[in-house]
Amino acid sequence: MKRLKIGTIYHKPVLKEKVIEYLITDRSGTYVDSTLGTGGHAEAILEELNEGGKLLGIDRDSDSLKISKERLRRFGKKVDFFNQSYSHLPEILKSQNLEKISGVLFDLGLSSYQLDTPERGFSYSTEGPLDMRFERSEGIKAIDVINEYPVEELTRIFKEYGEERFSKRIAQAIVLNRKIKKIESTKELKDIVKSILKTKGDIKTLSRIFQALRIEVNEELSELKKGLDAGIEALVPGGRVCVISYHSLEDRIVKNRFSELAKGCTCPPDFPVCICGGKKVLKILTRKPVIPDEKEIEENPRARSAKLRATEKIA
Ligand SMILES: C[S@@+](CC[C@H](N)C(=O)[O-])C[C@H]1O[C@@H](n2cnc3c(N)ncnc32)[C@H](O)[C@@H]1O
Repeated sequence: MKRLKIGTIYHKPVLKEKVIEYLITDRSGTYVDSTLGTGGHAEAILEELNEGGKLLGIDRDSDSLKISKERLRRFGKKVDFFNQSYSHLPEILKSQNLEKISGVLFDLGLSSYQLDTPERGFSYSTEGPLDMRFERSEGIKAIDVINEYPVEELTRIFKEYGEERFSKRIAQAIVLNRKIKKIESTKELKDIVKSILKTKGDIKTLSRIFQALRIEVNEELSELKKGLDAGIEALVPGGRVCVISYHSLEDRIVKNRFSELAKGCTCPPDFPVCICGGKKVLKILTRKPVIPDEKEIEENPRARSAKLRATEKIA
């Protein structure tokens, strides 16, 4: 990892006070920050916990873990670090001989540190290799997706994960260009996308294409579904899950899963009695998602699309 001045690479934690308000119910409890990043939320959680409290910090990105380890050093044994995907929460808890936790936080997506590091390839604003993996030691890279996926698959990814209306045209342009030369950098991809869009919507389309690629490379949506269920399963009664999402695909998954588990019975409404036996597992704490106020957005424009949803385990 390139030597960077620590304070300048910290990601600004979004909705920090609200997260603490919704997440912490027991100051001596065990909590999980499943997307530790550079440790901003984790620091606030650790400050709130008393001597008996404990935090497990998880991140798929080993570079981010190095930064958060340094930042949270002063908390000593109150915090442990795990370089894994949060979908492995059950194994992580087992390895610590832990059965239940008091709360879990998911702050989805990527951090400013990752976005602002050109060699990670997450941003169309700076030139870098088409990588986009959270964990750089494994898995396919964006360069593989862009140069190897058939046109139909590229179209599907841009449509499903980017909700981009020019998906097919962009996929076709990529395939045409890669026949001439392998597409290797964020700038090359950006230029191809821009070449077929002559509207003011360029920036939004670029964000959607880059987002779609990142979701594909990291299998973000399936990881989220697994991680959410694992988090809910691990909670003590009264324990809480907080999720901050940054785009509608993630938010929909969270909202729908919370509603299903808060509803319990899934029998059709015209059934006179319940035959499915479904029990209510959750109580939703945020009927509408909590969003940052104007002051926070002014201080941290990257917070503008954030939505926080919180829920409590009933039984
Ligand atoms: C928005 S950042 C979190 C920032 C953090 N809350 C802070 O205050 O610094 C999201 C983090 O989640 C990590 N991440 C994404 N998907 C993950 C997964 N499936 N498992 C674990 N970490 C993941 C990313 O590597 C990134 O560091």
